[in-house]
Amino acid sequence: MDKLIIEGGTPLHGTVPVQGAKNAALPILIATIVAPGEHRLGNVPDLVDVSSTLSLLGRLGCSSRGDFSDLRIDTSRVAHSEAPYDLVRKMRASVLALGPLLARCGSARVSLPGGCAIGVRPIDQHLKGLEALGCQFELSGGYVNGRVDKLRGAEFTFDVVTVTGTENVLMAAVLAEGTTVLDNAAAEPEVEDLANFLNSLGAKISGAGTRRMVIEGVSSLRPPESAYPILADRIEAGTYLVAGAITGGDVRCDGADAVALAPVLTALSAAGCTITDGPGWVRCARTGPIRAIDIETRPHPGFPTDMQAQLVALLALAEGTSHVRETIFENRFMHVAELHRMGARIDVDGNLATVHGVSQMEGATVMATDLRASASLILAGLAARGSTELLRLYHLDRGYEKLEAKLGGIGARVRRVAEGRGD
Ligand code: EPU
Repeated sequence: MDKLIIEGGTPLHGTVPVQGAKNAALPILIATIVAPGEHRLGNVPDLVDVSSTLSLLGRLGCSSRGDFSDLRIDTSRVAHSEAPYDLVRKMRASVLALGPLLARCGSARVSLPGGCAIGVRPIDQHLKGLEALGCQFELSGGYVNGRVDKLRGAEFTFDVVTVTGTENVLMAAVLAEGTTVLDNAAAEPEVEDLANFLNSLGAKISGAGTRRMVIEGVSSLRPPESAYPILADRIEAGTYLVAGAITGGDVRCDGADAVALAPVLTALSAAGCTITDGPGWVRCARTGPIRAIDIETRPHPGFPTDMQAQLVALLALAEGTSHVRETIFENRFMHVAELHRMGARIDVDGNLATVHGVSQMEGATVMATDLRASASLILAGLAARGSTELLRLYHLDRGYEKLEAKLGGIGARVRRVAEGRGD
């Protein structure tokens, strides 16, 4: 297994190209099922989760070819409607196959994802929303077995804001008879990107990017000739902007969208960074001290939970005490114990982290527990004195493309080595 060795203490300067958004690419790849034919996708990130999604599509009988800048997926044939445990276990987003398979095949068998490092993560809202459209489910042997004779539009209000839950119901509603209204829907830019993709296939969705979506069902969908470019990854961009901030450097992210990043940029500004932006780029520089701030994670347009761990690393070096409240997931402070090993002073009480800033962190051997925790530890390592070794890199490869090359390009000293080897 690989590990990452980070020599800290160098201010990072330069430009990083932003990848396509993981959390837009995964639902869009799976959404190709609802329109038989050959799809073309551009700006697909080269990530383990994308490869897992292509494996899932392969298991269903679809094929893919080409590279990530112009990926072709042929969904003319869907021969199976099962997302098996071995794939769902590796990647929870496989549960996104439920809605599209029900819409395409009238049946679906999808393994229950179970919990993960950041929380219990149930899928009750996915099932309730699909039931409102006429689907029936039974749970047996760790699987959800779903069937539907005819999808019918309905009004449905989510009890909690759920990103993949909204996406699952949306992907079925586009082929339902009649109109569907989804209230308390997720408004994340990635949900909006999925809706734009579905509209490019002939779907009639309005209100994407707001809490209320209206979907007029159509009888069939068809892939267009042109390639659909996946949205830029706001979380990857945000992570590199924090790399500029935490090292006292100046980093520009090309391809980033300041509007999608607004809550993160507001927080970085309040923490003492200088933010500038233009069409298709955002830049973050810091010369003065890091200021303590209070953050609370919220569904979009609130502060994203996927940037919480990275901000905690930054605030660990602030002048003063910050408060970070995690309201989306119940167990998303696993990075804190590892940051302690690097000299951070953070108290966690339930969903509140009180971050007492220290003037310096020290390199240490640390272990990643999930994707964004990995990013947090790398950021801490970039600012720390000495060398940090990050173990369990597989989490990172699920969500960050060419991380060492991108960090190296802005002056970081980071290298990947096989775990167990000193070099
Ligand atoms: N929830 C329910 N019932 C449901 C669904 C969700 O109670 O049926 C709860 C969850 O337990 C959680 C909250 O609702 O407390 C929000 O979870 P959500 O469903 O929005 O999360 P998700 O769709 O499983 C996506 C991203 C996550 C990101 C969250 C929140 C993808 C593939 N994953 O997960 O991304 O943290 O939304 O924005 O889109 C990551 O990229 O590192 C990552 C974890």
